[in-house]
Amino acid sequence: MKIKKVAVIFGTRPEAIKMAPIILELKKHANINLRICVTGQHREMLDQVLEIFDIKPDFDLELMTPNQTLSDLTAKAISSIDKFLKSEKPDLVLIQGDTTTVFSAAMASFYNKIPVGHVEAGLRTGNLYSPWPEEANRVLTTKLTKLHFAPTELNSKNLLEDGVSNDDIYITGNTVIDSLFIVLKKLEGTELEFEGLPNRSLTFLGDKKMILITGHRRENFGEGFENICYAIAELARLNPDINFIYPVHLNPNVREPVNRILKEYDYTENKEGNVFLIPPQSYMQFIALMNRSYIILTDSGGVQEEAPSLGKPVLVMRDTTERPEAVIAGTVKLVGNETKEIVGQTQRLIQNVTLYEKFSKSYNPYGDGKAAKKIVQIILREI
Ligand code: UD1
Ligand code: UDP
Repeated sequence: MKIKKVAVIFGTRPEAIKMAPIILELKKHANINLRICVTGQHREMLDQVLEIFDIKPDFDLELMTPNQTLSDLTAKAISSIDKFLKSEKPDLVLIQGDTTTVFSAAMASFYNKIPVGHVEAGLRTGNLYSPWPEEANRVLTTKLTKLHFAPTELNSKNLLEDGVSNDDIYITGNTVIDSLFIVLKKLEGTELEFEGLPNRSLTFLGDKKMILITGHRRENFGEGFENICYAIAELARLNPDINFIYPVHLNPNVREPVNRILKEYDYTENKEGNVFLIPPQSYMQFIALMNRSYIILTDSGGVQEEAPSLGKPVLVMRDTTERPEAVIAGTVKLVGNETKEIVGQTQRLIQNVTLYEKFSKSYNPYGDGKAAKKIVQIILREI
């Protein structure tokens, strides 16, 4: 039996969530010598995920610095990953998604002539500046990849249009659904504590509706993000009977406008407030919050993929999406980042029960929970 060395490299919360099922699956195969390398592009938000899935990295490049710039992070990531690759000499590098870690790992692997497997390949908006810088990371990573694991048929089509050979594309579903199913199972009979909520519990909600919010896209920073915060403030004012739970991303460019604009509605500041600004939640807690929510307002990629499985309507506070499948299915709607439109579309959904029911059908175009198994079978065959 020939043993092959596979290096899995990731650095942020969503990469960890989507790579975890692949790591669990790779560990089952004795002929795979697995090396887990985290760049530490995220720190707290990455560690939360590692803990849930009990993943212990072999290498931690500890790259995060407060408010890091894209160029600094990319330069540091390429040179640290290069050292890791030179010392470990893997037969394959596996990466997931579209972050700086992903592009840097693809680049460093190319410099070391090591083949790359790209999980979640082929997502595209066609606009290099939206999402920024992720669309460029995707396009550039595709050029440096050997095995393209496309979640959907549409993603495969995008890769073909980019000139990738059909022989190198594998449609597998998205591993986020594998992770979601793992966590939903873990949630059965588990009592959770929610950092930042009254009594660290959801009981304060009673039978009231709850709207869950997340946001972190760089192209929204500045005016776009302020517009989003003003929309949440207006929605909180218009709907005193609805609670708004917002686990705030740790990026300082997110925290500053959120804390400034939403302070007066924040329950921690004012017990009359119906907005709950809380720290990023661990993955199990976040899935439980999604499950309990009535509507989700977000600009997150992963949330757009998970929510349809839970039958939760999602309003995406962006102008573009690389995940049009759920929009076509009618469970996700793009509402942009203008205050008036976000408020108008959310109010419509709150007030129109027929519309809400149409939106909240449970349907998932992104996978069946078996993507990791498929990906690992392909790796075993191809390396
Ligand atoms: C990154 C990814 C984005 C992904 C998002 C998921 C890039 C360019 N961006 O954006 O594609 O959708 O992660 O959340 O790759 N911070 C902490 N602790 C953490 C994480 C972040 O303090 O655990 C703060 C730090 O000040 C850090 C800043 O957030 O410098 C920005 O982190 P970074 O990874 O560069 O960008 P994100 O906005 O998190
Ligand atoms: N998530 C989480 N805790 C939170 C918010 C989100 O665990 O407080 C999860 C969410 O379920 C999804 C992923 O993080 O799987 C999405 O990450 P993020 O929005 O940061 O990145 P994106 O998917 O937009 O790249």
